[in-house]
Amino acid sequence: MKATQNTLSLTDVCRSYRIGPVTAEVLRGVNLEIGSGDLMSIMGPSGSGKTTLMNIVGLLDRPSSGTHVLDGHDVSGLEDDMLSTLRNEYIGFVFQAFHLLPRLTALENVCLPLVYRGVGRAEAIRRAQAILGRVGMADRSHHQPSQLSGGQKQRVAIARALVGNPVLLLADEPTGALDAETAQEVMALLLQLNAEQGVTILIITHDSSVARQCTRQLRIDDGKLLELPGQDRGADRPPRPLADDGIRDQGAAAP
Ligand SMILES: Nc1ncnc2c1ncn2[C@@H]1O[C@H](COP(=O)(O)OP(=O)(O)O)[C@@H](O)[C@H]1O
Ligand SMILES: [Mg+2]
Repeated sequence: MKATQNTLSLTDVCRSYRIGPVTAEVLRGVNLEIGSGDLMSIMGPSGSGKTTLMNIVGLLDRPSSGTHVLDGHDVSGLEDDMLSTLRNEYIGFVFQAFHLLPRLTALENVCLPLVYRGVGRAEAIRRAQAILGRVGMADRSHHQPSQLSGGQKQRVAIARALVGNPVLLLADEPTGALDAETAQEVMALLLQLNAEQGVTILIITHDSSVARQCTRQLRIDDGKLLELPGQDRGADRPPRPLADDGIRDQGAAAP
């Protein structure tokens, strides 16, 4: 029996861009269901619409048509303000180029999403420190990004993405700027967060060795999303209970 609960579903999602008289149909009827605890990769040629899809999933953009349900909310037609409120609460982003603020320490960078939510300083620091410990960066919390290696920066960025207990972690080429060995270390961290904390993760990647480590592998081509068969989706694996240490505490105690 399937133990996972549905986190997100896209139904017949299309996205086209109009430039002057020309309309480019980038997504042509994408269907996607993400369950809580899924670990998914999306590959596809450059220009195939991976970032377009990720922007829609991450509430940075809206479909031209189709429906998008996130954690029970139909978000297809929401205004920008509402989208950004939901985005802040539900989504954590990790980018290829880390996007850490250079003048802030690792700890301050990780605190930021909580500060935006109005969490008090002491509580923000407590939760940021806990999550930095989880990604193996407790002893670097007072370093600035320039004092960290690429792999360490990405660990801090992952901590920042997770500190607000998102329902979904979206990573756009998270290992793309790293050498092979460091890339594998970062991938191992993502695998561990998924297996041990039940973090739901969607990774866009060009690297087939990264994709192969995910339990669900998807490909986008010609505007359509295809799932590669034969993967163990881990559907019978019950979601693990999550400790109250800043990774995820809401929604974890689903019946
Ligand atoms: N804001 C935009 N306006 C017009 N065309 C866009 C815009 N964003 C993306 N596109 C086009 O959509 C297609 C898919 O882009 P993108 O999603 O960035 O691809 P990928 O991430 O797979 O490389 C490309 O042809 C790109 O030129
Ligand atoms: Mg892209």
